[in-house]
Amino acid sequence: DNKNIVGIAGSLRQNSFNRSILREMSQHPPEGMDISIFNLKHIPLFNADLEENGDPEAVEDFKDAVKEADGFLIVTPEYSHGMPGVLKNALDWAASVSNRNVLDEKPVYVLGASPTPLGTAFSQAQVKQTLAAAGSFVLQQPELYIGKVPNKLDETGELQDERTKTKLYEALEAFDKWIDTMNSAT
Ligand code: FNR
Repeated sequence: DNKNIVGIAGSLRQNSFNRSILREMSQHPPEGMDISIFNLKHIPLFNADLEENGDPEAVEDFKDAVKEADGFLIVTPEYSHGMPGVLKNALDWAASVSNRNVLDEKPVYVLGASPTPLGTAFSQAQVKQTLAAAGSFVLQQPELYIGKVPNKLDETGELQDERTKTKLYEALEAFDKWIDTMNSAT
């Protein structure tokens, strides 16, 4: 069976650069891997009171998708040197301490893109800190900080930069191996 990867972009923006990167990855996965995209737009703000009555439907769909996935892929923007609230909110639901934590022992790969040269370095560090608390198995290398991203996309948002395409593909190959390694260890 093919590996089933669920990917999210940490942005709700229609023309999100990060969604463009995720789309490129989902269209060109390594052999034996399928990448589906989950959109966070219906996830409500976390509230432990809501959780007491079971997860809201959109949250349940999200958590089911992550739970069933062989790997979880996060392509995140950076806001004010941190991860966007949209992403932290989704991770807070997913890492619930009172309902199920679907991030525990989940192989995860984090990358991101931004118009600045540093390409989400601060944001990704934060995401990895949150995933460490959730117990995720985060692939640490290769790190992928895609800077100056508007120069790498065409006017329709398609990735054009060949070097970046190669790096995305190599990262997915490394993630594929990482999932095998984690599965054989648990
Ligand atoms: C930004 N942006 C930004 N970029 C960055 O590299 N470092 C940063 O600290 C910030 N800070 C920041 C704060 C806020 C409130 C916004 C709205 C934006 C710019 C950001 O990278 C840019 O808007 C991207 O286009 C966001 O990603 P998506 O939506 O294109 O995927």
